[in-house]
Amino acid sequence: MKSYFITGGTTGIGWELAKLFLKEGHRVAVCGRVLEKLPKTAKEEYPLLHSYELSVTDEVATEKAIQDFAKGGLDVVVANAGISHGSKSRWPDKEVSKSIVNTNLLGVINTFFPAMEIFKEQGSGHLVAIASIAGYVGLPGASAYSASKGALIHLCESYALDLPNWGIDVTTICPGFIDTPLTKKNDHSMPFLMSCELGALKIKKAIDKKKVLYIFPWQMALVMHILRRLPRSIYRKLMKMPMADYSKK
Ligand SMILES: NC(=O)c1ccc[n+]([C@@H]2O[C@H](COP(=O)([O-])OP(=O)(O)OC[C@H]3O[C@@H](n4cnc5c(N)ncnc54)[C@H](OP(=O)(O)O)[C@@H]3O)[C@@H](O)[C@H]2O)c1
Repeated sequence: MKSYFITGGTTGIGWELAKLFLKEGHRVAVCGRVLEKLPKTAKEEYPLLHSYELSVTDEVATEKAIQDFAKGGLDVVVANAGISHGSKSRWPDKEVSKSIVNTNLLGVINTFFPAMEIFKEQGSGHLVAIASIAGYVGLPGASAYSASKGALIHLCESYALDLPNWGIDVTTICPGFIDTPLTKKNDHSMPFLMSCELGALKIKKAIDKKKVLYIFPWQMALVMHILRRLPRSIYRKLMKMPMADYSKK
């Protein structure tokens, strides 16, 4: 039996992932700002489920929860909690931008540091970050989201070089579009949209295999690799084409 702490595990990818680990007989903790989002029968159905009501932007609360759960063991920490712009806008909003970076980047740091201390002490552990293919380029209308996920990819690329020296594995997951409450808010097209169940299954397999980097689906990975390598002047022209111009707001 392993112990998994998953931030933002009350809905979407996090909850699907939690269920997969619980069904295999592992101990799992989830956290979120509103625990009522968890299915009402979750605790009865999964006695090994632990839950903490907190925001990952609260450094102290996050640290306390991880330390509390770790009293029963801690093997894997999945920094999954994240927010997006929802309806995209060409005109960036300062408060929304700060909130996205605060949750998607600083929230991961708040999550990883207490876990790293525990993993360092025990000489083993696994940090997993749910980034996004949106981190590969600066997407129009999603500046803070792209920036937060891009920074997260780089943060974890460095951790994957540094932390194995202390027995700590690092996995970065970059999903394409997955059908969750987060993407339900999107008002633009979502190529290769995948069900949440399938997305979580793919993520679980990558975690189990301790992949350093997993980008999926492959079609979106290919598109993003091409977009990233294009001369930036061509990228900018492409993003101005009508199909990419999803919002004039
Ligand atoms: N869906 C996709 O297409 C997609 C693609 C690429 C990457 N991702 C990434 O995957 C992760 C999960 O997204 P999802 O699609 O599953 O979204 P979701 O269904 O909206 O789930 C997000 C989870 O994060 C929690 N959360 C949000 N802010 C939080 C905070 N400050 N502190 C603690 N928990 C917080 C939410 O619970 P509360 O609201 O109760 O706090 C919820 O449990 C995110 O990092 C997202 O960026 C998603």
